[in-house]
Amino acid sequence: MTTYEEDYARSLADPDGFWGDAASEISWSKPWDKVLEASNPPFYKWFEGGELNTCYNCLDRHVEDGRGNQDALIYDSPMTGQVKKYTYAELTDMVATFAGGLAGLGVSKGDRVLIYMPMVPEAAVAMLACARIGAIHTVVFGGFAPKELATRIDDAKPVCVIASSCGLEPGRIIEYKPLLDGAIELATHKPENSVILQRAECVASMQSGRDHDWQELVASAAPVACVPVAATDPLYILYTSGTTGIPKGVVRDNGGHAVALKWSMKHVYDINPGEVFWAASDIGWVVGHSYIVYAPLLQGCTTILFEGKPVGTPDAGTFWRVIQDHKVKAMFTAPTAFRAIKQQDPNATLIKDYDLSHFETLFLAGERADPDTIIWAQDCLKVPVIDHWWQTETGWPIGANCMGYGMKPVKLGSPTLPVAGYDIRVIDEEDATKEMKAGDIGAIAIKLPLPPGTLPTLWQNDKGYIDSYLKEIPGYYKTGDAGFIDEDGYLFIMARTDDIINVAGHRLSTGGMEEVLAGHRDVAECAVIGAKDALKGQSPLGFVVLNAGVNRADADVSKELVALVREKIGPVASFKVALVVDRLPKTRSGKILRGVMRKIADGEAYNAPGTIEDPAVLTEITEVLAAAGYPAEV
Ligand code: COA
Ligand code: AMP
Repeated sequence: MTTYEEDYARSLADPDGFWGDAASEISWSKPWDKVLEASNPPFYKWFEGGELNTCYNCLDRHVEDGRGNQDALIYDSPMTGQVKKYTYAELTDMVATFAGGLAGLGVSKGDRVLIYMPMVPEAAVAMLACARIGAIHTVVFGGFAPKELATRIDDAKPVCVIASSCGLEPGRIIEYKPLLDGAIELATHKPENSVILQRAECVASMQSGRDHDWQELVASAAPVACVPVAATDPLYILYTSGTTGIPKGVVRDNGGHAVALKWSMKHVYDINPGEVFWAASDIGWVVGHSYIVYAPLLQGCTTILFEGKPVGTPDAGTFWRVIQDHKVKAMFTAPTAFRAIKQQDPNATLIKDYDLSHFETLFLAGERADPDTIIWAQDCLKVPVIDHWWQTETGWPIGANCMGYGMKPVKLGSPTLPVAGYDIRVIDEEDATKEMKAGDIGAIAIKLPLPPGTLPTLWQNDKGYIDSYLKEIPGYYKTGDAGFIDEDGYLFIMARTDDIINVAGHRLSTGGMEEVLAGHRDVAECAVIGAKDALKGQSPLGFVVLNAGVNRADADVSKELVALVREKIGPVASFKVALVVDRLPKTRSGKILRGVMRKIADGEAYNAPGTIEDPAVLTEITEVLAAAGYPAEV
């Protein structure tokens, strides 16, 4: 096998050769004309002219190759007490039949299908069934409120929605169907059909003509074959937070995605066909798309679909049980999950009850892996703990300790080195033409073209793609992260350069929350920042100035604001604190000093800019924060 250094250098010097070789691992119904089509920058195309089917590569192909009796997917649900295993042959049949059901409803190639489901096997079946018939899925995380769902319906214009009657959160049933009905009511675009999976825990009422029962649909459907699609055709759209309340529809193509994800399974995660891989995330996030569904199946692995939480379902030993029971070789989760376990079982006493002898590596991503959490996880698991860095937009890791080549020394706080295909530079935030020297912080950018599998554009919004990512640093993709590269080439990802915060590994826009607060009748001005949180990494913290003449108790307004964010964005926002203040700190030109407010909330030293309107406001803010318990202990 080649070394990391050889492959990394080749991937940049000869992308056609490097990715052309990687593409031979995928089954194509028509070979590509060109590996990288670069004649129309900044729009690059991978494997143009090629045709394939992603579902075929995930399922049928393995059955044909003799993997039919191997488990493809294990559903492990401490929420319901169920463990169900599906072989490659069984999963292929389920997907082919459900795809037949969708086709019977008139869904065809290029149509969009919105999926709003919890962590049940049918969610993966729905995604793969769309891929099978060339429909473009867009999965929406269950923790989003109807308004967020409606925004996505209006942008993607799905012909069909696939939903579950409910999701299960500890101690409560979340009825999805009324949320879906509410969203369709709010949306301008009305999907023609919906397919509802009725779960035992809650039976949803159905709207005749539009809603179809999942079981009835498959009972009368005939399996359908895979439809070849162009490598450059979209496989899915995944909406992610941008710098406003309007989410961005990240597009993923079929060809580049299949090639990059399969390549990553061996080279980044060191997972071979037949081995068991577990990403403890949710199919609503990119991690779930890439590493619960597509990558492990492309690689012929067994993937775990876990419906539960790291703690409380039933205890902080759940992860160890799943690793033991299913002989997991490597798992992937967000650092926040390990902080949750550490909080409840600081000495990891529960671990000794389980046999983790098959377990080789823990991968962490989604937020910066803090050194304390890494050390704690290393000490209790006694395996390498690998921080790696990526985004919804890239779909697979940008920076990692690529375990398939052999492990590089770990530097705590660093996701290690750039992954093949990513030419990473640190650019001066004041001068887009200047690169920072080793050790100096700047905006992290990736030289174009991005490797296969990354976003070719935003859904029907080429301008938005250019404006959001490519305009500021010509010739580069702006990641939105700030950080540095040290003398050894190690990456350090320190913070976002925009308004995005990471709450329990979930990406949220504070701008979106501000829009909601500003919509309250008593609010004159507001600001939302991400404050340090011992469990979730960050949690949103709102400041509001009330309109003159509002004569209500601050606590009442705060309560309404918390409820409003939950109603408009959803519980996933974890918006729990809105502080009423007399004034917000601003520069003389009216710019709110959110960065300074965040530092005060986190108990960090700060410099008030010379342009501040009135420095006394900072004292007022410090007092309000102190009264509310900030800085919090972390
Ligand atoms: N449907 C409906 N509501 C949901 C939901 C879903 N699919 N997922 C979460 N929620 C709700 C939660 O019940 C919670 O509601 P509450 O405010 O009434 O308590 C709220 O959204 C916030 O959820 P979350 O941030 O996940 O907090 P939590 O306290 O329920 O759990 C952790 C905290 C750390 C245990 C959990 O976030 C976790 O396991 N995270 C790590 C793994 C992960 O999923 N990472 C994502 C990307 S890798
Ligand atoms: P998402 O699109 O939800 O995957 O969020 C992507 C963002 O999460 C990145 O732009 C980073 O800000 C942050 N992030 C993800 N992984 C890491 C990591 N390993 N270290 C630091 N930040 C990370």
